[in-house]
Amino acid sequence: MHPITIRPARFEDRYALARVLIDATLTTFRGRVPDRCLYSLTVEESATNWGRNFKDDTLSDGQYPFVAEVASVDVIGLAMAGRRSTDSILDQQIAQSYPRELVTLQVDPAWQRRGVGRKLVAAVAVALMKEGETNLLVQVLAENPNVAFYKALGARLVGSQPYDWEGYPATSLIFVWDALRALTSAV
Ligand SMILES: CC(C)(COP(=O)(O)OP(=O)(O)OC[C@H]1O[C@@H](n2cnc3c(N)ncnc32)[C@H](O)[C@@H]1OP(=O)(O)O)[C@@H](O)C(=O)NCCC(=O)NCCS
Repeated sequence: MHPITIRPARFEDRYALARVLIDATLTTFRGRVPDRCLYSLTVEESATNWGRNFKDDTLSDGQYPFVAEVASVDVIGLAMAGRRSTDSILDQQIAQSYPRELVTLQVDPAWQRRGVGRKLVAAVAVALMKEGETNLLVQVLAENPNVAFYKALGARLVGSQPYDWEGYPATSLIFVWDALRALTSAV
């Protein structure tokens, strides 16, 4: 059994972050959305984006990137919460009630369904609670077969809105957690 550690992400993780992000996205959505949605970003480009963020320190402003790591294997998952740009949630009542968003959560396909996602969300919840936040929003594409993960973690569906993914008309489901404390038991 490999012990899984959750720790804050750092600059050196940029290639691992890119690899997990792209692998998990491809595995989840291949055949469910047009290929153009899936191949718009290379590992190199994604790693450069992550690296740039860490370098000019924009991740430190209210954003919480975490990785899940197995000592002998490397990074196997990532999660990040952030402050949302004001216009990404169309329903202003929801946007104002839930200022923080889980903007990315990805587990390496080979490590899914072993509690890693739950641990990553717990780490995010603990970090946000330290800032005095009590709730959290997450957008999940209706095309994503992993919607059940959010339901298993007690998230509540509060709305939906269109999402343009490289010209493909997807639907974004909006889930919320009203009590972050309930998520922290997996830390
Ligand atoms: C969704 C994802 C993050 C879940 O992470 P994970 O490590 O596989 O999930 P966990 O093992 O922590 O599961 C926690 C609970 O959710 C349930 N669950 C997880 N994925 C599920 C699925 N696809 N269908 C049904 N239940 C699921 C588990 O059974 C578990 O429930 P239990 O505790 O009652 O047994 C992971 O599958 C993933 O990265 N998928 C690809 C990318 C993705 O879809 N990211 C989300 C973008 S919004």
